[in-house]
Amino acid sequence: PAERGDVMPDATVNGITLHYADEGNGPPLLFLHAFPLSGAMWQPQRTALSDQFRLIVPDLRGFGATDVTPGPTTMEQHADDVAALLDHLGLDQVALCGLSMGGYIAMALLRRHPNRVSKLVLANTRANADSLEAQAQREINATIAEAKGASTIADMMIPALVAPHADAHVRSMLRTIIEANPPAGIASALRGLALRPDSLATLQSTTLPTLVIAGTDDAITPLDTARVMHEAIPTSRLVIIPGAGHLSNLERPDDFTAALRSFLS
Ligand code: MLT
Repeated sequence: PAERGDVMPDATVNGITLHYADEGNGPPLLFLHAFPLSGAMWQPQRTALSDQFRLIVPDLRGFGATDVTPGPTTMEQHADDVAALLDHLGLDQVALCGLSMGGYIAMALLRRHPNRVSKLVLANTRANADSLEAQAQREINATIAEAKGASTIADMMIPALVAPHADAHVRSMLRTIIEANPPAGIASALRGLALRPDSLATLQSTTLPTLVIAGTDDAITPLDTARVMHEAIPTSRLVIIPGAGHLSNLERPDDFTAALRSFLS
């Protein structure tokens, strides 16, 4: 297993250098970030939970300080990267918390590496695949990312990523995180998101203890999508965070962290 102590170490997985944080003590808890963010979005939970858990927070392929690869980065590829990171760390199983794209990746992990997950948190995400219209919009946005860069993607996405009443400091943190991502990574991710399959059957067949988290003010994955997942998973609990938009862990960090703590303890 990798040595611990370095706050932001690198691992070589599936031919790329993957950047991740590994800190805290306790049962391992791995966080999967949203699109188009990076591991940096989990800062409030890193601060709050490192006394109780070993927190593993990767920058997924194409984001943050992790390498970019050309072509679509599928949810399956991300899931294989996470499984390889667990191999690198010598961990058989972790609790997994994925938000939005992180949730899509968590569902791919359930299909490909089911034995690696002990408990599951699906936050602000959905089980269904993209419609044809959504797929076409992903390709348009990938082309925009390549031509105009990450700050144009930030301008386009921030209004939907957080609730209209979200704090100015949350918006500015979000912009900083998005703008630090390589445009080619954003484009590869968009093309991979468009290819993801429907995951409802995956959820119906899981027996893992699962927490579904939703925000009342989430414009991207509204409450109904959370209810669909909650009803599909026989062993799920649903927590609805009042006033939270899509990035509920950043917008309502205390409520989000409290829900995690109570579910995982
Ligand atoms: C995310 O927050 O990960 C994305 O908005 C999800 C998506 O575009 O489907």
